[in-house]
Amino acid sequence: MKRILVLGSLNMDLVTNVHATPKVGETVLGNGFSEIPGGKGANQAVAIGKLGGAVSMIGRVGSDDFGSKLKEALESSGVDGSGVKSVESEPTGTALIMVNDDGDNSIVVIPGANFSMVPENVLSEDFDGQDILLAQLETPIETIEKAFAMAKEKGLMTVLNTAPARQLSRDLIANVDLLVPNETEFEVLTGYSAESEEDLQKGAAALFDTGVKELIITLGKDGALYMNHTGDKHHVHGYKVDAVDTTAAGDSFIGGLLTALSKGEGMASAMEFAMKVGAVTVTKHGAQSSLPTFGEIEKFEGVKRK
Ligand code: RIB
Repeated sequence: MKRILVLGSLNMDLVTNVHATPKVGETVLGNGFSEIPGGKGANQAVAIGKLGGAVSMIGRVGSDDFGSKLKEALESSGVDGSGVKSVESEPTGTALIMVNDDGDNSIVVIPGANFSMVPENVLSEDFDGQDILLAQLETPIETIEKAFAMAKEKGLMTVLNTAPARQLSRDLIANVDLLVPNETEFEVLTGYSAESEEDLQKGAAALFDTGVKELIITLGKDGALYMNHTGDKHHVHGYKVDAVDTTAAGDSFIGGLLTALSKGEGMASAMEFAMKVGAVTVTKHGAQSSLPTFGEIEKFEGVKRK
């Protein structure tokens, strides 16, 4: 089994449920309040750990109670969190999350200690014994750029989940083997919409021209679309489920995908597995609290949307 190194964020999610997300100037009542371990990096690492992958994480938390709880959450899910260090200068990252009656969320991330993960904190030895580097965009971009350059030099496969949306330098994109944006992120990255076939092709071609080898665009309820630089294409449909909370749906898809790839599965089969992981995740509340084990995925009998 291949070893996966996750570089990314750890946030304590501060979550409430609302009937509908408040408009500007409006006050609404929330139903309940929970502190749930989250952060896109930690969610993806925990997803891999719970599914039985071999995973380590590098990142930063504050020297506080949230930081300790987030590190415990990694360890209890089978993630080697020894590369997650505590800093005195900043509090642990937090995310304010509202989930509405449709299970859709609105999130404000306060990066805190995640932004203390500066380029100098990425060490050559972090990559020793690792096969795949996975990152998202909730840590400083210069750190991600350095890590991807080092990972390529050291022969790792590199995977970038482009969440939250932002533009990226050509140098970074050139060091990405597999890029995983959602539709909005694809549009921000390429300037092309993911809604028309023609635009999809043009946007993907622009990414392949800059060095990306493989691309998976996640399409929400419509599943996910794979394309590569040699012209292969594959669409995986989503499942019909009663979604109660879509938080970490994308993170769980990526965790499932990487776990399956690390166990030697082909891309089509890894995407099918990842789609099941995402489907189970949205039937439960919260980020890491909703991430399934391998056993849950084995038992899952979903019905496809198409
Ligand atoms: O992808 C979901 C995550 O985004 C949440 O857990 C929150 O912390 C933000 O990072």
